Amino acid sequence: MWSSSHAWLKPTTNPPLRVTCMSPVSVVAPAKLNLSLAVGGPRPDGYHDLATVYHAVSLFDEIIATPGKGLQITVEASSGIDVDSVPLDETNLAAQAALLLAEQTGQDPDVSLHIRKGIPVAGGLAGGSADAAAALLACDALWGVGLGRSELLTLAAQLGSDVPFSVMGGTALGVGRGEHLTPALARGRFEWVFAVAEGGLSTPQVYAECDRLRDGRVLPEPHVSDAMMSALRSGDAVALGQALQNDLQPAACSLRPALLLTMEVGDDAEALGSLVSGSGPTVAFLARDAEHALDIAVSLSASGTCKAVKRAHGAVAGARVAGER
Ligand code: C5P
Repeated sequence: MWSSSHAWLKPTTNPPLRVTCMSPVSVVAPAKLNLSLAVGGPRPDGYHDLATVYHAVSLFDEIIATPGKGLQITVEASSGIDVDSVPLDETNLAAQAALLLAEQTGQDPDVSLHIRKGIPVAGGLAGGSADAAAALLACDALWGVGLGRSELLTLAAQLGSDVPFSVMGGTALGVGRGEHLTPALARGRFEWVFAVAEGGLSTPQVYAECDRLRDGRVLPEPHVSDAMMSALRSGDAVALGQALQNDLQPAACSLRPALLLTMEVGDDAEALGSLVSGSGPTVAFLARDAEHALDIAVSLSASGTCKAVKRAHGAVAGARVAGER
């Protein structure tokens, strides 16, 4: 457990009167996958311009925020999830979210954040971003701040490229470094199977590998295909399976060639489509329906090509207060 009083954040003027909620607040936030991820060349700020379709799926992290002295982070795993690499200091995105909100609102960052991880760590499923989004909402509720949606999204963008989408949820088009969002016209419920790999991949390393493999090639403006947008509009799972696309996939597979074996197993089980999720190494498979998802999951588990298998559906809502505890 890590604790700090963060005295440097003490406001110089009296903060507005707010009533801190004394009961713990629970917030859940979903994992995401990128149904389409088109990556442009490196920008001077070290990021890459993207055109992406985010899709929130029913794997959740929960944050329980309790009034405390200083800032404390604790983490608990659910089945098949390794939390050893989750930092318990101020590098944890949930801690950064609490500190940012405290700084912006003249609040002392006195809170205990207990994270229950249901999203694989460093898996390309935006688990850290989900924790940041959940911590923002939890501290907002606990401290009685009452931020509006656009203020929340602005703070979320300062915490990471995927954090605004963790707040928003659903299915959305993302541009810029991923933080400028527009809800996508999408219907239907899609059934997914996730093959969780042994160990994570570092997002900056995957982007760097993508640049290396491209070897300075001139790139078109990143864009999302018409086939993808039309599959979402019609809710057609077969068309969606064919339109899945990820420019980071060759880089993730170059750093982790074993992912190709995992993908073969899903193809043999007749998944409608498959792709590396975000920067990986989790691989997502689209199933025809819940029964087919179970078949794919059984094949993946039996193959021994991944550490764990999870089923989920999309799209689901973004981070939301689940209640006081
Ligand atoms: O925004 P976030 O902190 O999640 O990004 C982590 C890293 O991923 C960045 O430091 C950068 O190396 C890479 N990245 C990128 N282009 C993006 C998003 C992330 O190069 N659009």
